[in-house]
Amino acid sequence: MWSKHLAGRDMGLLVTGGAFDPGRPSLLCVHGSGGRGAEFSPLLEALGAAANGAALDLPGHGATPGPGRRSVDDYAAWVMDFLAAGPVRPVLLGHSLGGAIALSVALARPELLSGLVLWGTGARLRVLPAILEGLAQDFGPTVELLVDLAYAPATPPAIKDLGRQAMAATPPPVLWGDYYSCHHFDVMERLGQIALPCLVVSGERDRLTPPKYSQFLASRLPGAQLALVPRAGHMLHQEEPLAAAQVLRGFLGRLA
Ligand code: COA
Repeated sequence: MWSKHLAGRDMGLLVTGGAFDPGRPSLLCVHGSGGRGAEFSPLLEALGAAANGAALDLPGHGATPGPGRRSVDDYAAWVMDFLAAGPVRPVLLGHSLGGAIALSVALARPELLSGLVLWGTGARLRVLPAILEGLAQDFGPTVELLVDLAYAPATPPAIKDLGRQAMAATPPPVLWGDYYSCHHFDVMERLGQIALPCLVVSGERDRLTPPKYSQFLASRLPGAQLALVPRAGHMLHQEEPLAAAQVLRGFLGRLA
């Protein structure tokens, strides 16, 4: 049911959960700045057969050809093209920049979705100058700063290495464009327009999009549920996949 092509071009799409079963919920994950769909593999594996799982690579990331985009709206337009081209109306899970994209899709084309999961993200995503300027001027050390901020300090080095590799493999102009897109994103005043079932999840120790951002989302989105994942930082799906999957399974079960 999931297509791995868009407008005749191959794209990166991780598909999990075995054969597509129309009787269970479908979940499409959208990664954050400098990420790729494969980073959701531990979370989707932990979900098992609870969903038809998939995680895409945004343009310019992983196996999806570029160019990367310079605005959340442009990334959201690409995701809407992908959704509109296929028959699946999934729950859209967006992490960080991906959450901004998911919010934008929910505002523009809610009929393409059956629910929304906002995962370590916010309605406004201003970026530290040390990140935005650093990526343009001093790429390697700025990637190290990002890795340090993205994971809770006690995270095993092997997990942090996965994030470092994905970010370092992202072309510098694409990574900069991702953070530039975040920096100009703000839908704080529009959240009341979203009527989709919604789950908001934050790592308790997230330093890039602190729990305050998720509390704000949950307070403004009609009927949204909020969950905080203990011990996790910004990369909660890699840091605490089992606890995160449990929260998600509960939400998907209530939707069914
Ligand atoms: N949800 C709820 N509140 C938010 C918010 C959100 N998405 N975004 C900002 N705010 C709040 C801030 O906490 C702040 O509240 P305060 O005045 O009570 O302290 C206020 O709105 C203004 O914040 P902001 O718009 O972010 O501007 P700023 O000039 O105060 O701070 C930064 C700019 C970059 C220092 C700050 O945004 C930050 O620390 N960001 C996190 C680190 C980062 O770069 N993350 C990358 C995100 S992809």
